[in-house]
Amino acid sequence: MLVSLNEVLKDAKKNKYAVGLFNTVNLEMAVGVLAAAEELRSPVIIGSAECLLCYSGLDDLANMLLPMAKRASVPVVLHFDHGLTEENVKKAIALGFSSVMYDCSTLSFEDNAAAVRAICDYSHSKGITVEAEIGHVGTGDISAPSDAYTKPEEAVEFARLTDCDALAIAVGTSHGAYKFKPQLDFERISTIASLIEQPLVLHGGSGLTDDDFRKAIAAGISKINIFTDLNVACVKAAHDAYAEGIGMTDVMGRMSEAVKEATMKKMLLFGSNGRA
Ligand code: 13P
Ligand code: ZN
Repeated sequence: MLVSLNEVLKDAKKNKYAVGLFNTVNLEMAVGVLAAAEELRSPVIIGSAECLLCYSGLDDLANMLLPMAKRASVPVVLHFDHGLTEENVKKAIALGFSSVMYDCSTLSFEDNAAAVRAICDYSHSKGITVEAEIGHVGTGDISAPSDAYTKPEEAVEFARLTDCDALAIAVGTSHGAYKFKPQLDFERISTIASLIEQPLVLHGGSGLTDDDFRKAIAAGISKINIFTDLNVACVKAAHDAYAEGIGMTDVMGRMSEAVKEATMKKMLLFGSNGRA
């Protein structure tokens, strides 16, 4: 069934587990993610990000994912991740996404808050939830705490000003494959979690250790975003299947199976299994 972020993250926050957002760019990946959620009776957040729209456009994604989300027997949030333009965020909502992220984290504090506030007013009037980001989770090396890390007092003010439904924070993770060993600032997570109501989101989840996930969730993370690990699992399955000389129709099944396995591993670590 299609639900919004509030319907899955409030319970996750209360009961100290996390719900995964798994970005998908094709049917094989979407089939794998939803099969994992069904098998483990886990709520799930599925979608794609604005920077991935060049691989599969919003209209096609919505037409593919919306019926799949509605048909599922577990709660599924259809989420537009890292929306960068008001135009695409509003388009995602018009196409039926139940949740959006409006990522204005490269703007000044004031401009970020004002832009997110306007999207929250628009989205909430339609029953759509909004995730925003304060501090900035980038790509590449951030092996030492930097200015981009979320400042607790800014998170408090940002949450109050915007009324967003979930807040992404920068605490030492980065998008894509890590070329360094990430050092998460668990204390910063705990401090922010103790100060604001909104569930906290950890981006750049691929490549973190099992221990990182457990500690981050214990400290107060309720949503974890994953893309790279699924991407790698899917393409490896395609490569191995091709090497065996099998055709596309069989390759598709192998890709979905690999994505399902990778997703299930994360769901078990996040503790979202059995929560649907
Ligand atoms: P990874 O690709 O590093 O898992 O990051 C996913 C993410 O944060 C999507 O918003
Ligand atoms: Zn992200």
